[in-house]
Amino acid sequence: MDIEKILSQMTLEEKAALCQGKDFWHLVGFERLGVPEMMVSDGPHGLRKQDEQADHLGVNESIKAVCFPTAVGTAASFDRELLYQLGEAIGESAQAENLGVVLGPAANIKRSPLCGRNFEYFSEDPYLSAQTAAAYIRGVQSKGVGTSLKHFAANNQEARRMSISAEIRERALREIYLASFEGAVKEGKPWTLMCSYNKINGVYSSQNPWLLNEVLRKEWGFDGMVMTDWGACDDHVQGVASGLDLEMPRAGDSDDLALVKAVREGRLSEKDLDTAVRNLLGTIDKYVTKRNPPAEFDWGVQHHQARKFAREAMVLLKNDGDLLPITGNKKVAFIGGFAAKPRFQGGGSSHINCTEILSALEAVRSVCPVTYAEGFAVDDMEADPARQAEAVKAAAEADIAVLFLGLNDRIESEGYDRRDMKLPPCQNELVKAVCAVQKNVAVVLHNGSPVELPWADSVPAILEAYLGGQAAGGAVVDLLFGAVSPCGKLAETFPLRLEDTPSYLDFPGETDKVYYSEGIYVGYRWYDKRKLPVLFPFGHGLTYTTFAYSNLRLSSDAFDGGELTASVDVTNTGKFAAKEIVQFYVRPDHAGIDRPVRELKGYGKIALAPGETGTVTVTLDRRSFAYWEERIHDWDVEGGRYVIEAAASSRDIRLCAPVEVKGDALRVPVTGDTIMSEIRKIPGARELLNEALGAKEHKMEGGDAAEEAISNEMAEAMSAEMPLHCLGSFNNDLPREFLLSLVEKLNALQGL
Ligand code: BGC
Repeated sequence: MDIEKILSQMTLEEKAALCQGKDFWHLVGFERLGVPEMMVSDGPHGLRKQDEQADHLGVNESIKAVCFPTAVGTAASFDRELLYQLGEAIGESAQAENLGVVLGPAANIKRSPLCGRNFEYFSEDPYLSAQTAAAYIRGVQSKGVGTSLKHFAANNQEARRMSISAEIRERALREIYLASFEGAVKEGKPWTLMCSYNKINGVYSSQNPWLLNEVLRKEWGFDGMVMTDWGACDDHVQGVASGLDLEMPRAGDSDDLALVKAVREGRLSEKDLDTAVRNLLGTIDKYVTKRNPPAEFDWGVQHHQARKFAREAMVLLKNDGDLLPITGNKKVAFIGGFAAKPRFQGGGSSHINCTEILSALEAVRSVCPVTYAEGFAVDDMEADPARQAEAVKAAAEADIAVLFLGLNDRIESEGYDRRDMKLPPCQNELVKAVCAVQKNVAVVLHNGSPVELPWADSVPAILEAYLGGQAAGGAVVDLLFGAVSPCGKLAETFPLRLEDTPSYLDFPGETDKVYYSEGIYVGYRWYDKRKLPVLFPFGHGLTYTTFAYSNLRLSSDAFDGGELTASVDVTNTGKFAAKEIVQFYVRPDHAGIDRPVRELKGYGKIALAPGETGTVTVTLDRRSFAYWEERIHDWDVEGGRYVIEAAASSRDIRLCAPVEVKGDALRVPVTGDTIMSEIRKIPGARELLNEALGAKEHKMEGGDAAEEAISNEMAEAMSAEMPLHCLGSFNNDLPREFLLSLVEKLNALQGL
């Protein structure tokens, strides 16, 4: 398409019309200009393509499609290649269905385990979330279909999601909430982005010029199209003026008129409207030129892929005494409603009308005979004594009991948050009753976010199957019986109790604001800093073999920009072939700015046969050591010693290597409010002060009378907190002009 030519031929009314959808799922097309309509559809873990009866919460039916594992699990794979392949599968089906853009992935950070949509989000860690999202985006787009990275930004709860203002300090926004999107935008290059419903610090995301124009486009170089979440447009004119391109779904004619009127009355520049139209035409152009429907398309092939992906998206949390895998001719009992009816996806806009569903009970038939007792129905909250008794009997008569537990859709879904982290009481009761008659108990969990497990100590094996997609049951059986070794690791912390969680006192906020008072201390950053015990730490996951780490080496023991590589050798020291996920954390080891104990900055996954050794290498850069410095509104690297940790989890650090990092010259503008200890850090400041103040500074710091009683160190410490403007106080008789000239000189020293 010749975008500039089309733009020049468009009337003001047509431009305005293009800036909102034609209906629920289509963009407007113009036959006379050769611009086709383009359809978008939810994602992210499969297609939810609706024909008639459109809605945005998955209430009405959509076409049949394959449901892949949800984001909480795919992030636990720590596997960029897997995410790419998942993206390819989704891109291919979208091509077959003539879709221009798939609405996803969702890169919001898991601030609280209670967020109803956590199953759709990747992680509590921005680096992992960004890497995972970027790989998915690249995969989908490699098939010529666009993605819409969502929900930009700070949509971390469902409570009042359409109006709440997330009150977040700059540093937490940059290091945690925006960082997850930043990496995905820079590395994934999504065609489009979807704004969140909520406000950030009082401004709706869809009409926030700082967020959309400054950060997203100017700083991060995003050159695609920005759309609203469905119904997230408060003031369309303000939106377009702020960097928004498309309002979805169609609001109505009055919305077109509002844009036209605003341009005519000079409240919206036609230049801004043209920018939006260019971005929209650019996206439609990509759709047109990359249209390449597959000659043949088979959902059956994708079902098998879904099983393969699901195996890597599950986490073996516990396996005392090597209870798993189940081998030999053991009598096995499957217990719990989820064995026959797995919960494999969440409720809401990502809900897929599956081509088929494979339960564990069905999948196990081809492996070995099992007895089955329901124990509880998936929607039960309170125990049913008869069902429970039947389950206890089945467990007592077996050699091993596998309990399938989980949350139901009423507890966890888009649209509302959970109230607590508990499993339904009937399930906890059942575990207790079964443990009383059977010591070989393995629990399989189907949930989208952490749950409290009050019986964790009395159950030898726990497999977190998450919401593993339509073939989840097959994957569970593959792992339980050892056809494949589990390999996932947690992309989130499992806290012991809700009261320990970082946002406990501030989630979901009381009225129209929610204060992110925990700041940068989200997830493991919080538990580590506060030295809190957890049930299972971030990055934790077991398998059927063991791994030994050796020979951690860095490309250099000093870092001054550029790249630093870290490599570690890993040996499979057990009996099963398996994959290990190695995590690399950066831990500051010097006094300085307040920082998390450690932060994930690299990871790699390696498949090893028994006895085999391989190497995992990651590359770190300046950003791996940086923090967001609010005083300069930019990233800063503090100089000093850092430790690179090669780890099996955030609480299982295997090897460490120090590196001396050369810091940035931090240049914070001096004002009258700058305190002396900060001023003294400026190279040359002490000399300048001595010269300018002479005896006066001496007097200020100690006072004549105190000279004998107070040492120089004490005097320096006492004045450390004193702002520059106070130099004039305490009878030093320093005129204001003199102080102002000092401020100027100190800034000149810094080249400011
Ligand atoms: C959700 C989005 C979704 C959209 C369209 C919204 O309610 O927040 O994630 O893409 O609906 O269904």
